[in-house]
Amino acid sequence: MRQTWGMTATVLISRATPKHAAAVGVPVATTGAVPRSLGLTRVALAAAGFEGKPGQTLVFPSASGPAMVAVGIGVPGTLTANVLRNAAASLVRAAGKRSVVATNLADLDGVDAAAAAQAVVEGALLAGYRYAGIKKDPNKGSLTELVLVVGERRTTGAHVGSERGEVTAAAACLARDLANTPPAYMTARHMAEKAVEVGRNGGLIVEVFNRDQLAEMGCGGMLGVNAGSVEPPRMVRLTYTPRKPVGHLAMVGKGVMFDSGGLSLKPSDGQIAMKMDMSGAAAVLATMGTLKALKCKSKVTAYLMCTDNMPGGNAVKLGDVLTFRNGKTSEIHNTDAEGRLVLADGLSLAVEDGPDAIVDIATLTGACMVALGTKIAGVIGNDQPFVDRVRAAAAGTDENVWQLPLEKAYRKLLDSNVADMRNIGGPHGGAITASLFLSEFVGDVPWAHLDIAGPMAVDADDSWLSKGATGFGTRLLIELATTFSK
Ligand code: BES
Ligand code: MN
Ligand code: ZN
Repeated sequence: MRQTWGMTATVLISRATPKHAAAVGVPVATTGAVPRSLGLTRVALAAAGFEGKPGQTLVFPSASGPAMVAVGIGVPGTLTANVLRNAAASLVRAAGKRSVVATNLADLDGVDAAAAAQAVVEGALLAGYRYAGIKKDPNKGSLTELVLVVGERRTTGAHVGSERGEVTAAAACLARDLANTPPAYMTARHMAEKAVEVGRNGGLIVEVFNRDQLAEMGCGGMLGVNAGSVEPPRMVRLTYTPRKPVGHLAMVGKGVMFDSGGLSLKPSDGQIAMKMDMSGAAAVLATMGTLKALKCKSKVTAYLMCTDNMPGGNAVKLGDVLTFRNGKTSEIHNTDAEGRLVLADGLSLAVEDGPDAIVDIATLTGACMVALGTKIAGVIGNDQPFVDRVRAAAAGTDENVWQLPLEKAYRKLLDSNVADMRNIGGPHGGAITASLFLSEFVGDVPWAHLDIAGPMAVDADDSWLSKGATGFGTRLLIELATTFSK
């Protein structure tokens, strides 16, 4: 059965609500006038349980026209892009099977026209996403058309913002598709093919490296993790170069296509979501595909470190020592701590390109998920100003991150008698010891690591997150790259 890819809806900007709209969103704050189009008083709305809280909705079906949907946007004066993104997602969910959804953005104060349109488009398209699946009759999302109704004054801004929102949402949906695809389909080879396709459409240079080339380059981490697998590894290097680059950002994504744990085999339950262990690489690839369309002013180089992690006759054994691209070595104490091994080679290579900063993104540790739960990613780095840039980008895209310390005192937990370090620390502080391992490969380059093990997936629809892979980090990385020149 062939894999089909998720579709996104068309987005239109209009001065008036179109006749063919099946649902019309009407933003309502917690106080102040209720828009006349609802034909209701605040008292009547409150009696129906609708107070205008952020993301709250109330649907009024109609026999003759479109359903009207009151959409809460919270206390007047507190409107932000994040509130609007969430409100748009609630609207699309409340609209149910109605495929053409319009929403009025005419009387929104506090958020500029472009930012408002971008947030609404993102919220609607991300909530409308559904993984097609490998089915005789593929799953389909209901939303086919989104219409933003805006006043004349805000039309130009709305066009700019909605185009940007379409690009960022489509990228996050691509990352979701890549991560949702079953592992027999989404192999390292297939991921590399996808990268070539994305690069062709996005004006990128794409270089794909196979096992022999990785051996030649001394990428012992990639080879070691791949050793137990019959499926060959792929490393993909993507380069985006604008006309007069301002700054150079590097990205590295963990692309473990399936993480069985290797000889340190995971129990069955722990393997179920591990087709998504390439979510970091997916976010990086999807991000790279947007840079030309978004006119990113900085040079961006990216490495996707793709292999699965399998037990097998040739697999790396506990006690084995791997040598990475930068010459450092690691004794393997647990083959399930494989993400750091492939990232070690990727970070070493990224440094060689001479970037101003490096960001890596990885579904790296269960420990980070224990610490921060499933809604927050960890961020750790060696340079506070750069970590702060990542945090600022995350705040704007509503992909929550929380900084953990790169505590040097824990470095001795990685000490080894036979190699420069071992690949696991003690029983505690696993997200931090993993980061200390990574920090051995970035030299003096400002670096931030995103551990997205927690937020890589959701088990039910939730606001603009749709069941399955979340594409977490894609919009964050886009924001980081496109503001890097500032
Ligand atoms: N891919 C996993 C981390 C993970 C777990 C991601 C759950 C998403 C959800 C990673 O490769 C791993 O297995 N980490 C180990 C490290 C340990 C052996 C030091 C872990 O977290 O248990
Ligand atoms: Mn693992
Ligand atoms: Zn893993």
